[in-house]
Amino acid sequence: MSTLLLSRGDVAELLNMEEVTGVLEQTFREHAAGRAQMVPKVYVKLEKGDFRAMPGAIPGAAGVKWVNVHLENRELGLPSIMGIFIYSDPNTGYPLAIMDATELTAYRTAATSAIASRYLARTDSRTMGLIGAGRQSYMHLESHARVFSLEEIKVYDMRPEAAVALISSFPRFNIKEASAEETAASDIVCTLTPATAPVVQASWVRLGTHIDAVGADAPGKQELDPALLRMARVVVDDVTQACHGGEINVAVSRGLFTKEQIQGTLGEVIAGIKPGREGDGDITIFDSTGLSIEDVATARLVYEKATERGGYPSIDIV
Ligand SMILES: NC(=O)c1ccc[n+]([C@@H]2O[C@H](COP(=O)([O-])OP(=O)(O)OC[C@H]3O[C@@H](n4cnc5c(N)ncnc54)[C@H](O)[C@@H]3O)[C@@H](O)[C@H]2O)c1
Repeated sequence: MSTLLLSRGDVAELLNMEEVTGVLEQTFREHAAGRAQMVPKVYVKLEKGDFRAMPGAIPGAAGVKWVNVHLENRELGLPSIMGIFIYSDPNTGYPLAIMDATELTAYRTAATSAIASRYLARTDSRTMGLIGAGRQSYMHLESHARVFSLEEIKVYDMRPEAAVALISSFPRFNIKEASAEETAASDIVCTLTPATAPVVQASWVRLGTHIDAVGADAPGKQELDPALLRMARVVVDDVTQACHGGEINVAVSRGLFTKEQIQGTLGEVIAGIKPGREGDGDITIFDSTGLSIEDVATARLVYEKATERGGYPSIDIV
């Protein structure tokens, strides 16, 4: 046996949004049924960023992601988020593959938001607002366009050039630059910034809106006015991770929102254990922190496809 080595290009070529969405929906069902194992992210704080270790296992697959967030990397021509994933056989512990996790993260995060939007947004949603125009914004537009007939997309970024670049990459869509307030007045809003203070005010959000709050994935990060959390049905990917480092973490630490006010997990909504949206006038929020089991499931998909296709390099580590 040997260990497959899969580059960022290999992973990008092997993944597609439709398949990732399919395996992740099943993974959230496993999470709700208590059949998935994960420990909350372990953070290593550094002067210019941080590292996160994310181990997890689902039936038949296990692994760990080692991923950074270094926001000044753009100036060096490097992505702000880079990761590697070690995919292991859960029965023997054998390291079956070492693969890029940058693409893995990009795909699984956007696919998860699209699943959340499918379960929580109004089915007649036609407008989308993207707050932040970085890598995740491109992926979220791709993942949502598969699920909704988007008639109008607005994008806001504090760096107008980022919004312009995004718009020019999607000539097939009716997409335009807008203020944060105009962008928040959409049927589906995805917040995709590393902000540590609210970018979206409660008064800007219309009844019936669904928000995928994705940017806050570490303690101290937040993108939404805490008043919005209290007006909405808040669904999280994982309760412990969300309270520690998700969109709700700052509000929870200040006593403005409590764990008991969480409506349920995405897995529970998918499995029908907890209700999601109950009326067209509800505001729903999905607090995405990013789960290790999303990475494990996506890595298994990559590994299986790479094995089937063949021709990838490998090394004898053990
Ligand atoms: N929940 C998850 O699973 C998950 C997964 C991956 C990334 N993330 C988080 O999502 C965020 C975006 O990731 P990315 O890879 O797209 O990053 P990126 O660096 O590629 O893009 C971030 C964009 O946000 C803009 N921005 C920063 N602060 C802003 C503000 N206050 N208002 C408006 N725009 C602002 C930047 O100009 C940039 O264009 C990060 O915070 C990242 O940590 C979460």
